[in-house]
Amino acid sequence: MKKILVLNGPNLNLLGTREPAQYGATTLPEVEATCRDAGRRLGYEVECFQSNHEGALIDKIHEYGRLWKEGQALGCVLNAGAYTHTSVALHDAIKGVDGLPVIECHISNVHAREAFRHHSYISPAAAGIVVGFGVAGYVIAIEGLVRTRDKDNAALK
Ligand code: DQA
Repeated sequence: MKKILVLNGPNLNLLGTREPAQYGATTLPEVEATCRDAGRRLGYEVECFQSNHEGALIDKIHEYGRLWKEGQALGCVLNAGAYTHTSVALHDAIKGVDGLPVIECHISNVHAREAFRHHSYISPAAAGIVVGFGVAGYVIAIEGLVRTRDKDNAALK
């Protein structure tokens, strides 16, 4: 079964208790379980990984770049958290693996928030962007990946 990576960056392990007015009450394990269910329904194994460390996120993108080249992965849904607004290294990792489709995902509408959240280093390297749909955005991003990269998927009919 092909894989989809759901990759979460810094502070997203605190989902559920972190600024619930902004990010909701759903915990990360709950979000990840929903993503795995959505993947299974579409015929994919969803692997979930979260790290507060930039390098660990980069290593995971490299791993999936290799899996994508071997035909074993469809793509990646990435919520890079605050690294979205700071990380040239994550931008370079996505460009560097050359092919792996990465869907940038944000729970909140970053464009309606502070100015420092309006710029993303991920967006120019992303295949698509899902912003402001709450945690439902992760499943929307998974479906978007499948709809655009696996158009004949029988579960979409
Ligand atoms: C976020 C938005 C970022 O600006 C913030 O630093 C996060 C979460 C979101 O999902 O809305 O950590 O990526």
